[in-house]
Amino acid sequence: MHGALPSKAEYDAWVHEITYHTFVHENVKGFMEGFRYDAHPMGMLMASVGALSTFYPDAGNISDADNRHMQIVRMIAKMPTLGAWSFRNAQGKPFIYPDNDLSYTANFLSMLFKMSEQKYEADERLVKALDVLFILHADHEQNCSTNAVRSVGSSQVDPYSAVSAGVGALYGPLHGGANEAVLKMLRRIGSKENIPAFIQGVKDGNERLMGFGHRVYKNFDPRATIIKKACDDVFEVTGVNPLLEIAKELEKIALEDEYFISRKLYPNVDFYSGLIYEAFQFPPEMFTVLFAIGRTPGWLAQWSELVQDKEQKIARPKQIYTGERRLNFVPASERWA
Ligand SMILES: CC(C)(COP(=O)(O)OP(=O)(O)OC[C@H]1O[C@@H](n2cnc3c(N)ncnc32)[C@H](O)[C@@H]1OP(=O)(O)O)[C@@H](O)C(=O)NCCC(=O)NCCS
Repeated sequence: MHGALPSKAEYDAWVHEITYHTFVHENVKGFMEGFRYDAHPMGMLMASVGALSTFYPDAGNISDADNRHMQIVRMIAKMPTLGAWSFRNAQGKPFIYPDNDLSYTANFLSMLFKMSEQKYEADERLVKALDVLFILHADHEQNCSTNAVRSVGSSQVDPYSAVSAGVGALYGPLHGGANEAVLKMLRRIGSKENIPAFIQGVKDGNERLMGFGHRVYKNFDPRATIIKKACDDVFEVTGVNPLLEIAKELEKIALEDEYFISRKLYPNVDFYSGLIYEAFQFPPEMFTVLFAIGRTPGWLAQWSELVQDKEQKIARPKQIYTGERRLNFVPASERWA
């Protein structure tokens, strides 16, 4: 947010602010209860983030620095609440209020999984792993959703509306959906013996090795190395997902294969993240919600930079007309006669 790491006092103030803005207006709860039992949690998140703009009409005052700060804090603080409630809706379970004694991620896990216990305290290793995943997803240049936030934000609308556009972009399978595709692929492969035939199919151009390759990272995806470590930590708590063995073997074989080496294809962040999310027992529809929570600080940092940029104008890509040069207008009465 500020372009530099915080001093201790700044850090403490930040944690305090984020922790004490986790609650949402009670009417937001009523609004979210109105969704169907089978509503996709990402659709619920997108709608409820957008709805926050009506609860904070002052958020439109984007030229005021204190005001911007307030909305940024609110949004980062409330995303886990909205995300967790979107999850609980599909399960028919009551929404759990935030527990401000807990850390950002521990509180999120409490709102997701708490039932009748007085206090939900997740295993520290799980909290740490999810924290790491949030940090790894925080920002990643001008990807589709960040570009959506910037484009919508360039109209000088409030940040809730801009971020809900980012959530919408992330909802699409080409953006947030690759880790789910990895799980489907691993299930389809089924066992280690089937890997060589699968790799051959990829090399023959019949399909892609999901979770491999990246538009920018052509050596390796630095996030993948960290995620692999988080994977081991999570499975220590939850027990190993049998798909992990297939994933590791697949990675090993692909990294030694000329096809992948020559094309500079390495595991990316999505290769292992789906396995971790599954170990937490998140259904695949929740994967992008987790991504959105982690990406929110990045979207807001980009938005904050954008609205302070003196050269920034409203987004307006140039359109080049490629249709017919001459088209005569024929009135409907003649066309439909
Ligand atoms: C991420 C991705 C879209 C980047 O694509 P890109 O930068 O446009 O790379 P290209 O599509 O130009 O691929 C370059 C070459 O590698 C091949 N290739 C790229 N990714 C591949 C993959 N995952 N499996 C097999 N071959 C792959 C292409 O077929 C192409 O081969 P060619 O030169 O013989 O035609 C692509 O690697 C991909 O589809 N990966 C799988 C999906 C995924 O994991 N997405 C999450 C990204 S974080």
